Amino acid sequence: MKGVILAGGTGSRLFPLTKVTNKHLLPVYDKPMIYYPLQTLTDAGIEDIMIVSGRGHAGHFLELLGSGADFGVHLTYEIQEKAGGIAQALSLAEDFADEGPVTVILGDNIFQDNVRADVGSFKSGARIFLKEVTDANRFGVAEIEGKSIISIEEKPKYPKSNLAVTGLYIYDFGVFDIIHTLKPSGRGELEITDVNNEYIRMGEMGFSLLHGYWSDAGTFESLFRASELARSMKNY
Ligand code: G1P
Repeated sequence: MKGVILAGGTGSRLFPLTKVTNKHLLPVYDKPMIYYPLQTLTDAGIEDIMIVSGRGHAGHFLELLGSGADFGVHLTYEIQEKAGGIAQALSLAEDFADEGPVTVILGDNIFQDNVRADVGSFKSGARIFLKEVTDANRFGVAEIEGKSIISIEEKPKYPKSNLAVTGLYIYDFGVFDIIHTLKPSGRGELEITDVNNEYIRMGEMGFSLLHGYWSDAGTFESLFRASELARSMKNY
């Protein structure tokens, strides 16, 4: 299994923290943000990892993480020329995936759970990771019926559940064919939620519920909470 960390975007919700640096290089307690998703992938046994970042700060990622040897992994870097959404960023990893499955993680997501078992048992289709939250309208939200997931809505005004779709996804190589068929959303981006809904439509979407801490870190409040979580995990 290969891994992809998506670390593009403008970080506009964290301005001016992101005026001269990239969101994923900001501190979350005692480490740069991107160390956390990198750790989640390495804990899952993934050693071949691509980092997709935007223009401007790509050199900083290279300086910070190098070849990956310090982390026991092999890193590859790719540039997203302009912010076109999570699915567009993922499309840049098609050659890297080399016909195989990929575990994809958003560079601003902090997880406590270890997903090694999910990664190890993955065969085909897709798998997402859901977490109960109190502010579901900020996220992709899953609607569950029995043991199946029947839809995902992106940032709904009136969420149908309290289950947020976290920024961690496992896809078979078919994900790239799906991305090629996507049209930009209202905000002009290729949405990962559209990719996931296509897997649901095909009956090929599995999911796991996370039990540990999870936070994104893309707003002032969530960045602050992520630092608190990281601190509490460390002192656990
Ligand atoms: C993205 C996804 C959303 C997901 C979230 C997790 O939203 O579009 O479905 O719940 O990441 O962090 P963003 O925070 O990029 O707007």
